Amino acid sequence: MKQTIDDESEHCTYGDLRDKVVLVTGGASGIGLAIAAAFAANYSQVVAVGRDKSKLDAAAKKLGDNLSAYNLDLDNLGKLPPLVAKIEREVGGIDVLVNNAGINMKKDALNVSDEEFERIMRTNQTAVFALSREVAKLMLRRGKGSIIMISSMASQYGIPKVVAYTASKSAVEGMTRELAVEWSPHGVRVNCIAPGFIKTSMSSKALDADMERKNKVLSRTPMGKLGEPLDVANAALFLASDQSKYITGVILPVDGGNSIGF
Ligand code: NAI
Repeated sequence: MKQTIDDESEHCTYGDLRDKVVLVTGGASGIGLAIAAAFAANYSQVVAVGRDKSKLDAAAKKLGDNLSAYNLDLDNLGKLPPLVAKIEREVGGIDVLVNNAGINMKKDALNVSDEEFERIMRTNQTAVFALSREVAKLMLRRGKGSIIMISSMASQYGIPKVVAYTASKSAVEGMTRELAVEWSPHGVRVNCIAPGFIKTSMSSKALDADMERKNKVLSRTPMGKLGEPLDVANAALFLASDQSKYITGVILPVDGGNSIGF
């Protein structure tokens, strides 16, 4: 299988991803959009699900026929089974699920209300489980599939002011290992990418007005810079392709060394 990365702006190429149906949550912005674009460039049939119609329209315009957009707030758990059925009917059997959608909130733990905590857990953990379960029911019936979770450095070490986010992303990593042992024997691999600090609107909200935090991030990142959404997208392509067919249950940091930095 040919794999190339000619320069920093280019995605990897995997022949086996052609025509695969790839569902990317939050696929209309930031890391999710880069993932959607990278799969589209590999001739996959990409389905982006998001709650922001205008962002979805812009993504559909950018990626053209390679993208089908579905507007849904994933927190509406009851709407996930009909969503999956609709995608399977309209686009095809889902081969790859990338659980990318996520939210963050920066606040001292003592000021986080139960409602705020639960809101973050619902999007980042419960909805991720509920969607994975619905998609896996069909993948398991077909005996194949790849599910990719997205966690965070917040699940690798302690970061202040993000207690709910940390709890949710740590749960995602645990869930990755649990689902991998249940589903991999039946052909469905489950892996997780732990991005470091990647240039998106989520990270700029957390870092741009807080130079102390930004300097701390950079000082413990051996590669000395933030990552690009494409760096995460390339890892997702690999974990979706047959090139990773013996890999399941792993947490793959894509972080310029941030998780092992001194
Ligand atoms: P972003 O805020 O640019 O994108 C997140 C997307 O998810 C948005 O399009 C948003 O509308 C969508 N979304 C959120 N809640 C949703 C819901 N309930 N229903 C439907 N769509 C929903 O953020 P970014 O930076 O691209 O993050 C993507 C993922 O990567 C998230 O899971 C985040 O936690 C993770 N991550 C990001 C890092 C970074 O440095 N940017 C670092 C580590 C992890």
